[in-house]
Amino acid sequence: MKFFIDTANLSQIKEANELGILDGVTTNPSLMAKEGIRGQEAINQHYKTICEMVDGDISAEVIATDFNGIVEEGKKLAAIHPNIVVKVPMIKDGVKAIKWFSDNGIRTNCTLIFSAGQAILAAKAGAAYVSPFIGRIDDTGWDGMILIEQIANIFAIQGYKTEILAASIRSSNHIVKAAELGADVITSPLESILGLLKHPLTDIGLAKFLEDAKKM
Ligand code: E4P
Repeated sequence: MKFFIDTANLSQIKEANELGILDGVTTNPSLMAKEGIRGQEAINQHYKTICEMVDGDISAEVIATDFNGIVEEGKKLAAIHPNIVVKVPMIKDGVKAIKWFSDNGIRTNCTLIFSAGQAILAAKAGAAYVSPFIGRIDDTGWDGMILIEQIANIFAIQGYKTEILAASIRSSNHIVKAAELGADVITSPLESILGLLKHPLTDIGLAKFLEDAKKM
């Protein structure tokens, strides 16, 4: 399973990358705005900086919601760096644009996936990734992991090449469950990735080893 970090924060991207396990980065307009990135030039430069930091797929989201606008914006984003994956929302014009991008050699990540039907449509259109939003489904009282499992089963049965990118991760346990249920990729905040390191018995065990090492 690939690990992406879900942030536009350069120091967090650097920290995750230095761990040696990072395969890519996902961003969205909310994450970019949180970092104070404003204006097309600054936005493009920020994506370029991330691409130069991490050797992997970097998702950059379009703002346009009509077919022509999505295609024009996506072409410009894809021209920033070969590792850019154009992130397209799950809407009718988005699906049409994903098909256009697929036919023209531009990889896409279909975002805002909340049902298996949406994932099937995006896969049919040729998306490289579909992003089911686990945490936001959990927030509504449903179980986002059921969707990961359902999509994984469908894609295996149908032989779809589209990768399942579990998004909207809120905990380390989300990462573990997504791996267990067949996600190809998780995108997570740094905190939940680092949370995978922790276990109290590891801390107790290490303290004892270090104490006993003094007697060696
Ligand atoms: C990433 O591709 C998604 O945009 C992101 O995981 C959404 O996360 P959120 O639900 O925490 O905003």
